[in-house]
Amino acid sequence: MSKKKVLVTGGAGFIGGNFVQYMVNKYPEYDIYNLDLLTYAGDLTKHREIENKENYHFVKADIADRNTILPLFEKEQFDYVVHFAAESHVDRSITEPEIFVRTNVLGTQVLLDAAKQIGIKKFLHVSTDEVYGELDFDPTTFFTEETPLQPNSPYSASKASSDLLVRAYHETFGLPINITRCSNNYGPYHFPEKLIPLTISRVLNDQKVPVYGNGGNIRDWLHVHDHCAAIDLVLHQGEVGEIYNVGGHNERTNLEVVKTIIKALGKSEDLIEFVQDRLGHDKRYAIDPTKLEKLGWKPTYTFETGIAQTIQWYLDHKDWWERIISGEYKKYFEKQYSLSKE
Ligand code: NAD
Ligand code: DAU
Repeated sequence: MSKKKVLVTGGAGFIGGNFVQYMVNKYPEYDIYNLDLLTYAGDLTKHREIENKENYHFVKADIADRNTILPLFEKEQFDYVVHFAAESHVDRSITEPEIFVRTNVLGTQVLLDAAKQIGIKKFLHVSTDEVYGELDFDPTTFFTEETPLQPNSPYSASKASSDLLVRAYHETFGLPINITRCSNNYGPYHFPEKLIPLTISRVLNDQKVPVYGNGGNIRDWLHVHDHCAAIDLVLHQGEVGEIYNVGGHNERTNLEVVKTIIKALGKSEDLIEFVQDRLGHDKRYAIDPTKLEKLGWKPTYTFETGIAQTIQWYLDHKDWWERIISGEYKKYFEKQYSLSKE
């Protein structure tokens, strides 16, 4: 019997990269294809330990490039698509929204056409809780799969648009799909533009940590390895056409997160600098994961064990993130933030 072929888009990024490693190691009987354009957020050095394995393959391509994607699907006849590739940073979507529409909306539509053309067995679209908009600070309220879509940023609007296209290809063409909507991830290989790796890397370098507004906004944190296990489960056992929320009830204010990291690294809270708030800054995200739990998923990390593992990982992999923050990222940081002193 021929091996099953799984196409993972965005497998050079943070979550996609962790997922590719998880799948290559867990399923030697599958061929895992990592398709990625290698934008600023993509990096292949993270795959050194798997890149020579027989079941790992890399394709450099743009998901929005129809002339490349359609023939590739015809040639390889993938069994499954797990679609992570996206522009993922909210702040960048505020300054440059257009690329978010191109990649996240048009790119998804091209992949859907290609998947439809070859009769894919499952198209799993990795989405986000941000499509639901924001919650207020009432701790008894959560996003469920029935919460209406009310995206507030250009990023979340582009993700919601792609979710609707995925749904429409299921309704119109019977494409076998799932959509997962996860809360904030953290863990190894998280790009240092995002709050947790930004804080760890800057605290380690004794640099100021920019906290938006008063730091009271709440995010619901999930370790990326728990997210990978959730996607594996939905890919294999999710009911076709269904949406699954992914989250582990780990709500923290941004200030709590930053203070936890500073304390763990034995540094001073004087490193915190409150800066101008993000435009349209969503107050709170919190996931109700009951539907996924009924499928058999539960997270293995608490926030305490996960953040300790993550901080240790950044201490052990300084070469990885120091290379990133010294490159093009440096210019981005200077443009995005103006801190009191560097
Ligand atoms: P990331 O920015 O770290 O990685 C995105 C990857 O996609 C990069 O490797 C990049 O090179 C690639 N890419 C971008 N444009 C492409 C294109 N046109 N063609 C091919 N590849 C392209 O993102 P991430 O944080 O790993 O997020 C992955 C997915 O998970 C996204 O769809 C995001 O919306 C979703 N998500 C992220 C989080 C989170 O907390 N990071 C939470 C929930 C959902
Ligand atoms: O909820 C899932 C989403 O989580 C994903 O869909 C996105 O792809 C991912 O980037 C993430 O979005 P957030 O905007 O929540 O993540 P970010 O790390 O950018 O910010 C987390 C919180 O920290 C948010 O309230 C803004 C705040 N923040 C962020 C940065 C970068 C700061 O206070 N200072 C900062 O410098």
